[in-house]
Amino acid sequence: MSVYDRLEEAARFVARETGRDRHDAAVVLGSGLSEYARGLEGAIEVPYRSVPHFPVPRVEGHAGELYSVPFADGNVLVLAGRVHAYEGWDLDDVVFAVRTAALSGCRRVVLTNAAGGVADDLEPGDLVVIRDHLNLTGRNPLVGPNDDRLGPRFPDLSAAYSPQLRSLLAEVFAEAGLRHREGVYAWMLGPSYETPAEIQMVKRAGGDLVGMSTVPETIALRHMDVDVGGISLVTNLAAGISPVPLSHEEVTETAARAKAKITAVLDALLPRLAGP
Ligand code: HPA
Repeated sequence: MSVYDRLEEAARFVARETGRDRHDAAVVLGSGLSEYARGLEGAIEVPYRSVPHFPVPRVEGHAGELYSVPFADGNVLVLAGRVHAYEGWDLDDVVFAVRTAALSGCRRVVLTNAAGGVADDLEPGDLVVIRDHLNLTGRNPLVGPNDDRLGPRFPDLSAAYSPQLRSLLAEVFAEAGLRHREGVYAWMLGPSYETPAEIQMVKRAGGDLVGMSTVPETIALRHMDVDVGGISLVTNLAAGISPVPLSHEEVTETAARAKAKITAVLDALLPRLAGP
């Protein structure tokens, strides 16, 4: 069965289970951020494991549910939990959920993640809008024969993060009373955190944030001509910048402490994301 046929099956299942033929926008909740989805009003919850062909996250702190949330201007899919390349998944699986969202009608997708802070002025707990990315893994979800039904062989990434969504996120940050800052996100494969030398390389290459997700999803969505926005939660200072060793506990603890900020941003964002 082709990737495209599997995606169609998943999208049909989502439409049937949610009773909503179409979703207009989606948000992916990253490490430690999934909890936001619980308690969204009018949300219909569908476990990933019930959706045909959906990969099911194995990492702690990643739930695996999608939520269909109705707003005045349209329906938003909230994807709580994602799978990562470092878990050993093929990149077709890593991007399966966002491609399903795109096939379900989503024309805008906002990707969130937990990231290490590389730029000098970042602190744990900061939320940063992604301006652009660096793919430092040498991997790409579009490697292999191109399916023209998804998109072109050589998609343009000169505006990988939609200027329009970046403006919307600037407004949303203002509404939430947060300092608005943008940065370049560097994708590292993981699962080991980086060395201090690698972080210096990222910094000199123009990276402000470092993490193990998001970039393959952005590439797959741009391939499908979907507008992408990105938000990183700085959960720790990157290796060599932080005075202490890095740990997954620090990442999840910072995410838990930043809950109020994340909630404020997503509460302001979701109703506007489905709109014009
Ligand atoms: N490096 C890579 N990925 C991360 C980090 C980091 O410092 N923090 C959270 N995800």
